Amino acid sequence: MEHTRIAALLRREGGSEQVTVKGWVRTKRGNKNVAFIALNDGSCVSNIQVVVDLAKIGEEQLKPVTTGACIRVDGRLVASPGSGQGVEVQADSIEVYGTADPETYPLQKKGHSLEFLRDIAYLRPRTNTFGAVLRIRHAMAFAIHKYFNEHGFYYLHTPLITASDCEGAGAMFNVTTLDMDNPPRTDEGRIDYSQDFFGKPCSLTVSGQLEGELGALALGQIYTFGPTFRAENSNTPRHLAEFWMIEPEMAFYELDDNMDLAEDFLKYLIRYALDNCREDLEFMNKMWDKGLLERLQFVLDHDFVRLDYTEGIRILEESGRKFEFPCSWGCDLQSEHERYLVEEHFKRPVILINYPKEIKAFYMKQNADGKTVRAMDVLFPQIGEIIGGSEREADFGKLYARVNELGMNERELWWYLDTRRWGSAPHSGFGLGFERLLLFVTGMSNIRDVIPFPRTPKNAEF
Ligand code: 4AD
Ligand code: MG
Repeated sequence: MEHTRIAALLRREGGSEQVTVKGWVRTKRGNKNVAFIALNDGSCVSNIQVVVDLAKIGEEQLKPVTTGACIRVDGRLVASPGSGQGVEVQADSIEVYGTADPETYPLQKKGHSLEFLRDIAYLRPRTNTFGAVLRIRHAMAFAIHKYFNEHGFYYLHTPLITASDCEGAGAMFNVTTLDMDNPPRTDEGRIDYSQDFFGKPCSLTVSGQLEGELGALALGQIYTFGPTFRAENSNTPRHLAEFWMIEPEMAFYELDDNMDLAEDFLKYLIRYALDNCREDLEFMNKMWDKGLLERLQFVLDHDFVRLDYTEGIRILEESGRKFEFPCSWGCDLQSEHERYLVEEHFKRPVILINYPKEIKAFYMKQNADGKTVRAMDVLFPQIGEIIGGSEREADFGKLYARVNELGMNERELWWYLDTRRWGSAPHSGFGLGFERLLLFVTGMSNIRDVIPFPRTPKNAEF
């Protein structure tokens, strides 16, 4: 490669060596004698300053070098006399790869609103903010694989197209090749899915867990990391219709082991970000969330609180707080409740366990009290629920009874039930919402701003 990435150049001393840089112009300023171009190539948040002697490169040639244009610069890397950067490039020649008409290029000034940038999500990676977010996103994805690899987990690829509803919430997107204007019908007038591509109704998966459990009951410890889909019509800053989930599943883990893993895993990822994404995190801290670095460090330095759901409800009831949705035993916690426990009562992350079985999925291990299941939700400051998981029901009879009690289609789940028939084992797992993690790590407040191309109700642009 004949050019050097800007992140690497900025780490050098600058002894007048010949360099080539390629990137996109952020700004150009100057006077009659000299022009300064701030150039960025996406390798870091910082720009490199390109200094152009107008006696050497004429003004005419610099005309197309405007904000947004893509250029190649050949020159010498020298120590910079100006403040703010260690080195700069003294240009010998400039080649313009692609111009960006100032009349039409949308990213002219700094400080566009996040709402505006969402409308031009195809260009926003070129901003400092989204450059930082996307680099952090990459680093976190890498760290997730690194963590599991170091801990003896295997990456299992679970299907995206499925005929079973893992969470039992019914919020699934159908996958079909039938002619929607004129679908084949059964004698009873229903749509005849036996003529569909897969010969039965299928959907995009809401979770890889069920297949993940099969993996754990063979390989011992697996994880999935892939896109999941939910057709819930929740237009909130914390929900996407397409989001990425990380789902470890472990044989011979009970709920306590599951909690230990979740805490260790989250802390590892946060530490990895602090160690490897310093410049981007400092940028996010300065621009968007002044408490970010402190909050990340705080989570590292404190044990998570582990608390029974029943105890959590008691705290909420005794808080004297007027919640928008009042809460009593049996209710599903809203984000306002979760955040009260985390941000105001305990002031640190909370793992809430042993939820009522009615508000949790069918596969969770039933407690002896007949009312609760061995669920665990990890609740984080600013976010609320970042992880949902449980110990799984390993007993065939109990699982079978629960599936029937809930009126689920046991014929679609035969293979899952079979795992409890042969060589069943205690096992546990959880799901970490990748974008919820990124909300926490970047300090962004809307989940649409931590994924390159958000999918939300009425929005599938780009
Ligand atoms: O709590 P959930 O629904 O749990 C499961 O899907 C289990 N099968 C996971 C498991 O035990 N293997 O989802 C897990 C996490 C949530 O805690 C949240 O972080 C995230 O996924 N999540 C979403 N993130 C963005 N948009 C949505 N619509 C989300 N729904 C859940
Ligand atoms: Mg959940």
